[in-house]
Amino acid sequence: MKRPINEIKCTFLSRSENESLARSIISGFLLPLDPDVEELADIRCAVSEAVTNCIVHAYRGTTGRIALTAACYADRTLRIVVEDKGCGIDDVKRARTPLYTTCPDEDRCGMGFSIMESFSDKLSVISKPGKGTRVTLIRRLSPSSAGAADEKAPT
Ligand SMILES: Nc1ncnc2c1ncn2[C@@H]1O[C@H](COP(=O)(O)OP(=O)(O)O)[C@@H](O)[C@H]1O
Ligand SMILES: [Mg+2]
Repeated sequence: MKRPINEIKCTFLSRSENESLARSIISGFLLPLDPDVEELADIRCAVSEAVTNCIVHAYRGTTGRIALTAACYADRTLRIVVEDKGCGIDDVKRARTPLYTTCPDEDRCGMGFSIMESFSDKLSVISKPGKGTRVTLIRRLSPSSAGAADEKAPT
């Protein structure tokens, strides 16, 4: 992919209050790009699902670091990466199946990955048991009504 016109990377601990922090961070990144209301809501929700998974599954009962990276390219494609160094997923294909959850008794409904998928143009999940998980979400924003779409990447 070409160089982004903007990019952020931050890390935070897997504390439950940091799920809303992650939503605020992604909103702050997106707002200057003039997303429409639905795009903003979709992406906030997808990030929230990915971060919640790190908190409740990856670092279950412990605390670890979550890395959130967001980049925007000149054609308004967004690349958002949520990464943990937690327990990892044995079978990613099965984990991505709608309604599959390893925590049915904790009110999990197994729709997190399906939600992330439906709110992205492409979702990739790479995971190694014992090492961690990286979720990458690609989404192209619709043209900006404010005409901010034609920015050039810095040289
Ligand atoms: N970051 C992660 N680390 C370890 N396991 C994960 C992670 N994200 C998801 N999983 C596994 O994938 C399953 C499906 O995730 P998801 O679709 O979000 O449903 P839910 O969170 O409701 O269980 C989880 O139950 C869990 O076993
Ligand atoms: Mg989930």
